[in-house]
Amino acid sequence: MAPTELHTRITGVPPVPAPSESSAPAAAPKTATLLEAQNVHRILGSGDTSTDILKGVNLSVHPGEYVSIVGASGSGKSTLLYLLGGLDRPSRQTAAGQPFTPPSRILIEGQDTATLNDTQLALVRNAKAGFVFQFHYLLKEFTAQENVALPMLKLAKLSKSQIMDRAATLLKRFGLGDKLKRRANRLSGGEQQRVAIARALANEPAVILADEPTGNLDRKNSELVADIFQQLASAGQTLIMVTHDPAFAHRARRIITMEDGNIIADTQTTPAP
Ligand SMILES: Nc1ncnc2c1ncn2[C@@H]1O[C@H](COP(=O)(O)OP(=O)(O)OP(=O)(O)O)[C@@H](O)[C@H]1O
Ligand SMILES: [Mg+2]
Repeated sequence: MAPTELHTRITGVPPVPAPSESSAPAAAPKTATLLEAQNVHRILGSGDTSTDILKGVNLSVHPGEYVSIVGASGSGKSTLLYLLGGLDRPSRQTAAGQPFTPPSRILIEGQDTATLNDTQLALVRNAKAGFVFQFHYLLKEFTAQENVALPMLKLAKLSKSQIMDRAATLLKRFGLGDKLKRRANRLSGGEQQRVAIARALANEPAVILADEPTGNLDRKNSELVADIFQQLASAGQTLIMVTHDPAFAHRARRIITMEDGNIIADTQTTPAP
């Protein structure tokens, strides 16, 4: 299937036109791996009180994978997810100041995030990753449509009217066609989470990263979100989600289990009949 068609299937709207060559950032080396964690450590605190909350995690995620991350509270799931999405950076050195061997690093489409300054990393993140959190973090005084428009305005690839149209189309796809102009704080929790998913898809991200996206929802709305993720995955969208809900976790095709800052299992699931 052509990428354009694939995108239209995922989001129900045509893709954003490619940027002109002059405005395109320097291309990262071509790689089949979308996200890679290599010996990733994350040390918090300093000196005697420092703790290594990720203890050398190795993980590769390829385009089109649907991955869930499970494990006990405090095992490092959110920390790993934020590192994969470039919201945080891995520690490069031990608490004693020695570099890790092999180097502790995250690669996004083959590019080591350590080679990017904070502004460049933020640009990569906005273009490549869409985030969905347990708490939606919508701007409550803004309408549903404005909230979905914001990442596109930041990316500045489309005109204002194209952006508002695309935001409307995404919201309609998730059953919110009649709530476009509704302020976010006047939507129900389930509706707010669907707006957050539409916002995460706004810039056609290479990957959706979700941290307990159903953690704050009732059963019916959780099912709705799980169904949306399933549809996105079926259409080829790469998804990585952290969840405490075993049924939701098992809808992914790959389940990663964490314990005490390590990956202790990484299994492919058998799809439900
Ligand atoms: N800013 C911080 N300062 C100190 N410790 C932290 C900080 N953030 C996280 N931690 C610790 O790091 C460990 C991993 O945290 P993380 O949030 O990644 O766990 P988690 O697996 O997502 O847990 P949960 O399921 O409860 O969300 C925990 O022991 C936590 O207490
Ligand atoms: Mg967490």
